[in-house]
Amino acid sequence: MAERREAAAQDGASAPLADAPPTTAPVALPEPAAQPETSALPEPAAMTEAEAARELARLAPLILGADEAYHGADAPIMTDADYDALRRRNAAIEAAFPHLIRPDSPSRRTGAPPAEGFGKIRHARPMLSLANAFSPGDVVDFDLQISRFLGVAPESLAYTAEPKIDGLSLSLRYEGGRLVHAATRGDGETGENVTANARTIADIPDLLPGAPAILEVRGEVYMAHADFARLNAEQAARGDKTFANPRNAAAGSLRQLDPAITASRPLRFLAYAWGEVSAPLGQTQTEAVARLGAMGLRTNPLMLRCTGIAEMVAHYRLIEGQRGTLGYDIDGVVYKVDDLGLQARLGMRSTTPRWAIAHKFPAETAWTRLERIEIQVGRTGALSPVARLAPVTVGGVVVSNATLHNEDYIAGRDAKGAPIRGGKDIREGDLVQVYRAGDVIPKIADVDADARPAGALPFAFPDRCPACGSEAVREAGDSVRRCTGGLGCPAQAMERLKHFVSRDAFDIEGLGAKQVEAFWADPDLSVRSPADIFTLAARDAAAPARLAQRFGWGATSAENLFRAIEARREIALDRLIFALGIRHVGQATAALLARHYGTWDAFAAAMEAAGAREGAAWDDLLAIDGVGEVLAGALVTAFRQPAERAAFAALLAELSPLPMAPVAAESPVAGLTVVFTGTLETMTRAEAKARAEALGAHVAGSVSARTDLVVAGPGAGSKAREAERLGVRVIDEGAWRALIGPA
Ligand code: IVH
Repeated sequence: MAERREAAAQDGASAPLADAPPTTAPVALPEPAAQPETSALPEPAAMTEAEAARELARLAPLILGADEAYHGADAPIMTDADYDALRRRNAAIEAAFPHLIRPDSPSRRTGAPPAEGFGKIRHARPMLSLANAFSPGDVVDFDLQISRFLGVAPESLAYTAEPKIDGLSLSLRYEGGRLVHAATRGDGETGENVTANARTIADIPDLLPGAPAILEVRGEVYMAHADFARLNAEQAARGDKTFANPRNAAAGSLRQLDPAITASRPLRFLAYAWGEVSAPLGQTQTEAVARLGAMGLRTNPLMLRCTGIAEMVAHYRLIEGQRGTLGYDIDGVVYKVDDLGLQARLGMRSTTPRWAIAHKFPAETAWTRLERIEIQVGRTGALSPVARLAPVTVGGVVVSNATLHNEDYIAGRDAKGAPIRGGKDIREGDLVQVYRAGDVIPKIADVDADARPAGALPFAFPDRCPACGSEAVREAGDSVRRCTGGLGCPAQAMERLKHFVSRDAFDIEGLGAKQVEAFWADPDLSVRSPADIFTLAARDAAAPARLAQRFGWGATSAENLFRAIEARREIALDRLIFALGIRHVGQATAALLARHYGTWDAFAAAMEAAGAREGAAWDDLLAIDGVGEVLAGALVTAFRQPAERAAFAALLAELSPLPMAPVAAESPVAGLTVVFTGTLETMTRAEAKARAEALGAHVAGSVSARTDLVVAGPGAGSKAREAERLGVRVIDEGAWRALIGPA
């Protein structure tokens, strides 16, 4: 079962600028391109091997991207349901074609790789996530699977049952009873080093008397409701950003580069598990947790040892009943096999233990009035309907927007035409039931047809773009209607511009989505296309003064902005291609294209030559591993549209894209997974990585059984030792240079 991700509500995020065009709504819905039902491929079991391989190649970066956005940036880009659907699809294909499981498959990871900025720590034992149960029936199945695995009678085993805290997990390593480091989960194998921050948390002792020589304590960092309310009030009073919920506040507070900030935040820690231990903590989960408590760690008093499903579910009900008065967020109950010997026999699947499961609480819901349905226009023209709601509190968060997905959803049918909500449509003025199940954007579960105001009409989904008036069309097999205005549509152009400056694209310091909206709306600055950003200084000598006057920018901020813009005239080819915002072209695809074509000129010429969708250029494009017909079609379409071509040409006149060394097929390191460790003497780490990747190697941050080669410089420590232990080849920098040859 896919890991269900935790809540990170968006609602109540930054309000739109007063003078922004009406189509820029305050909630940014993810582009629906990633939705699984848009795939034209057959069901996994009916796929050919080639289709399966291609689909797995498509899914891996999609899921990775979602993981990174969710865990790395604390800013989800798709709903839990869409995410789960992608993971399920990936799992179904892998089940049908196990030999096609990719080294970068999401089934081999539990979260996102660690964010930049913190040092990395490899967990001595992986930090696992939990499979989910949603009903007592799922709990029965869980017990059945375990009893079958162990060859014992069902309902004969003891389990512990305890609250599942909605925070973030942390691993604390104690050596000789002294805290040596603390790490977040990261991707489950390697996390961020947050030791300095963890030391500021009162519940995390520096010394653990009575601890075994090595002890990794695992538990949850979280924020209590009262502390969260106080923190948000203080933040608001200072004009600082407030947090949507306690989980986000806890995550944001722990992952501060300045430990003094963490110290000022009211974080708590509860211990519930362990990683490496030099001596067993007990014979049972109950004993081991009691031992952690005796050492001075906080443990959950609501943990109970149960025998049989009835007792487990009764404790679940009891905890559910106390949920509102516990004072902190929980989202379910975790059951664990009590006997540690049996836990060891049961072991783990790729990312979850067989001996534990999370029994989740149902989504929280509330009824409210749907005031209006608005249509947002996304970067690729998708018309996304959004429900504007009378504000209502759902699970502690005030909700005033909900996604309505697409026109079928509003009409009460799914992508295949089957009725949803009993076929009831959604109308303006309706009383609707809103739910948040750890979702990015709240959704509508139900409509009270009896409470419908007299005269309410079915919603007429526009067939023209509300921003530019162009025709909005729905292609066969697509659940989404799209504006055909392209760059001529102000909403699309604005979203494209926001994408252009975003972190993984041009990442211009001082120029984010907010500034893009403001600069766009300012007639003197008139920044409407990417090229306009680079011509701003030359077009308008008074721009710095204007920034000062209109937006209160100081001279230094303005100078910094123009410096940041200048610095980006030289840009990596893959970033440039990604930044263009062409449909279906994500970061991974942009990198493939950049490597394949090497220079902008070669790329642009090839896209134009491939425009007829036949001939050598088209075949060459399709021959790139990871490029299918849909993507190729989107690329050549972009290069045929006059407005796009003009925009590309104007932009390129301002830039000097850096060529990308094409992957040498005969490179001695192509296809190898390489890890660099220790100090490199003739190149920086970034340079070494870029060079290795250009030669077709995959550069990993940590050593595992999948590593082919470790390049170790002076000071190499645990990674080199791990390589030795695993029998991975270790060479020094000189040998590496000899291997790859001159640049
Ligand atoms: S046990 C090997 N117990 O839930 C199992 N996890 O969805 C390790 N969590 O990553 C986890 N409360 O962050 C366990 N009482 C609890 C928990 C708990 C919250 C979190 C934890 C884990 C996630 C899995």
